[in-house]
Amino acid sequence: MHTGADETPVRCVFGELGEVQADLMCAPVFEDEGSEELRSLDAALGGSINRARASGELRGKTHELFFADVATPTWRTRRVLLVGAGTRARYDTSRARTVAGAAGLAARDRRVRRLVFVCRAAGERAPMAQAAVEGVLLGAFRDTRFKSEDNSSSPLISVELYFGEDVASQTRAAVERGVLLAGCSNLARELTNEPGNLFTPRVFADRARELASGPHTTVEVLDEQAIAAHGMGLLQGVAQGSVEPPRVIVMRYEPEDAVPGPVLGLVGKGVTFDSGGLSIKTADGMERMKRDMAGGGAVVCAMRAIGRLAPSVRVIGVVPAAENMPGGRAIRPGDVLTAANGKRVEVLNTDAEGRLILGDALTLAQRFGATHLVDIATLTGACVVALGHHASGLLGAPDAWVESVRQVADRAGERVWPLPMFEEYAEQLQSETADLTNVGGRPGGAITAGMFLKAFSGGLPWAHLDIAGTAWYDTAQPHHTKGATGVGVRTLAALPFEVAW
Ligand code: BES
Ligand code: MN
Ligand code: ZN
Repeated sequence: MHTGADETPVRCVFGELGEVQADLMCAPVFEDEGSEELRSLDAALGGSINRARASGELRGKTHELFFADVATPTWRTRRVLLVGAGTRARYDTSRARTVAGAAGLAARDRRVRRLVFVCRAAGERAPMAQAAVEGVLLGAFRDTRFKSEDNSSSPLISVELYFGEDVASQTRAAVERGVLLAGCSNLARELTNEPGNLFTPRVFADRARELASGPHTTVEVLDEQAIAAHGMGLLQGVAQGSVEPPRVIVMRYEPEDAVPGPVLGLVGKGVTFDSGGLSIKTADGMERMKRDMAGGGAVVCAMRAIGRLAPSVRVIGVVPAAENMPGGRAIRPGDVLTAANGKRVEVLNTDAEGRLILGDALTLAQRFGATHLVDIATLTGACVVALGHHASGLLGAPDAWVESVRQVADRAGERVWPLPMFEEYAEQLQSETADLTNVGGRPGGAITAGMFLKAFSGGLPWAHLDIAGTAWYDTAQPHHTKGATGVGVRTLAALPFEVAW
């Protein structure tokens, strides 16, 4: 279901602050600024900023909220929210995004319909403005689709970014990009939050058709027969324990003026529910595994963004979608599967299903012409242990390609952190029976999962993002609701533009 999670209009405004009409005006306030800088705002608030500063109520600590009523009768906006932004020196695009996110979230919680966010000069204007837009729209997102009655909120109908003076066209373009990328991230969040009963591989494929199709983007869906014809035995193996048939979603972005040569291949894990299969998971928290398609959702929504941003590099998106269930026909530990690239895999643990379906999808992406690969997956609990919830794992080869993906992710404000891929780790995947096993034991679990994928990368430049810890929040953040984050959309959509092809 399409809820318009990507449809809040954002405008740039400038001029007299008192002339701006909104339900709530939000502005960052720094820990280390004097009363001078906010003087005109403080005057409009009848001096409450200064009083709150003096009493210690307002300190400017990151994400602290301070509400005040406007005292000046001529001001058109009657209520102000100051959001703590920390120290000036540390107010970069990442901080600006979460500060704006806290404003968006607070506004949404308070049924604000028209929000103005005051962009306070720091750093380069265009990227800061983009970050602010992204923050507000990501922060204001709330998923109430499955509530029969939603009295708690009404969506933002408009957002205005206020600047002291008129802004350059680059800044306007950056704001537009922010609107698009936040919108596509929010759509990915909706896909990811959907329950497994309603969001099966077939439904996923239908939604991808709706979301990713565009003037230069086609969507093709491979059904069971096509999957068999491609010899995707790893995907078939994972899917066979479920009554829901698998699908492979293939999205092709082909611009008219395509740069000859490179084809970026984006591959996303689309497990619509991961019970673990016969190597079944424990009941505690198993419901979270409805989100095991977050990587696939990110690829679909990144392809949507790419079609609209129109880079000159060709991009192909491949999402293998399946449900991992312990039915009567399910794969057994010890079974041997034949992959699309001919390798034989001994399945020692049916819960290591993501790498299986991704292995075949990486092969397929190559078959369809990809020259550079990036995959994204909620792949391992081990990655969550290693990096927690504040960075995705980054693996791959060669180093130069991995490094360029790292830089793009950094600029997109989606933190990643590299894990090593020393040859020795591959020894943990040696099988007595087949070419390799699908698990390498507990030590370095995120890395051995990466080593498994590497065996299917065909020697092409390939990077792997493990988003098991970053695809959703289990607890609400000041700038972000509980649930899916849409992580990866911004990075993947930026890759065609920002890599030196
Ligand atoms: N989808 C899970 C990984 C996961 C765990 C994602 C926690 C998000 C949060 C994956 O399919 C899985 O089950 N991995 C196993 C691999 C193991 C059997 C080698 C894991 O991490 O326990
Ligand atoms: Mn699993
Ligand atoms: Zn999984």
